Amino acid sequence: KSNKGKDKKLKRIEENKKLDEHWKLVEAANNVTDPLAPLVSFQNFNKNGLSVALSCVKAQCLDAETLKWAFDLTKANMEELYSSSWGWNDKEKLKELSDDRMWFLLATNQSKPVAFCSFRFDLDFGEPVVYCYEIQLEKEMQRKGLGRFIMQILQLLAVKNNMNKVVSTVLRCNESSKNFFMEKLKYEVDASSPEDAVYVILSKTTK
Ligand SMILES: CC(C)(COP(=O)(O)OP(=O)(O)OC[C@H]1O[C@@H](n2cnc3c(N)ncnc32)[C@H](O)[C@@H]1OP(=O)(O)O)[C@@H](O)C(=O)NCCC(=O)NCCS
Repeated sequence: KSNKGKDKKLKRIEENKKLDEHWKLVEAANNVTDPLAPLVSFQNFNKNGLSVALSCVKAQCLDAETLKWAFDLTKANMEELYSSSWGWNDKEKLKELSDDRMWFLLATNQSKPVAFCSFRFDLDFGEPVVYCYEIQLEKEMQRKGLGRFIMQILQLLAVKNNMNKVVSTVLRCNESSKNFFMEKLKYEVDASSPEDAVYVILSKTTK
C-alpha cells in the first residue's frame, strides 16, 4: 500500500515538473521579439498573381486601424456562419483579437493588409501548442495558396519554439475551412474534440 502511495506521489511530482517545463517553453516563445525573423523565405508570398509581405507582431503592437480591419474582415467572413452556430458577438470577438497574449501574422500588399492569422503560444491540456484563433483572407486573396502558406508558417513556428502541435477550432458548418484544414493540410480531429458540438477541434503534430 505504502509503495502505491509513493508511486502516486512520484507520478504527481513528475507531472508537475513536466507542466512547469511546458510553461517555460510557452513563456520563452512569447518572449521572442519577432518569431518570423529567422524564417526569411517565409516573409514574402509571390505566387498565383499575389504579391504579399508577411510580418509577425503581438496584438498590442497593432495600430487601431489594422485591428479594426482584422475585426471587420472576420465579421464579414464569419458572422453568418457564427449565427447558425454559437452566435456572433462584436464585443467578444474584439476582446479576443486584442488580447495581450495574441500574436498576428499579417499579410500586406503595398502596406495594405489583405489577410491575417491570429494565434497564441499556449498550454492546451498541459501540452505546449500554437493555437490558431483566426485565419482570414480577403475574398480576392482566397484559393491562391496564401492560406496554406500562412499555416505552413504556423507549423514552422511551432517546431522552432518547441510546441507539440498546431491546433485550430473549426465550425462544423464551415465546409470550406474543414476542406482546407482536413483535405489540403491533413489536419486530424484532436483527441480533445467533443463529439456533439457545433465545432470540431483539429490539430497537426510537429513530431
Ligand atoms: C479558409 C481559408 C483560410 C483558406 O485559405 P486559402 O488561401 O483560400 O486556401 P488555399 O488556396 O491555401 O487552399 C485551398 C484549399 O482550401 C479549401 N477551400 C478553400 N476555400 C474553399 C471553398 N470556398 N470551397 C471549398 N474548399 C475551399 C480547399 O481544400 C482548397 O483546395 P483546392 O483549391 O485544391 O480545392 C480562406 O479561404 C478564408 O479566409 N476563408 C474565409 C474565412 C474562413 O473560413 N476562415 C477559417 C476560419 S476557421
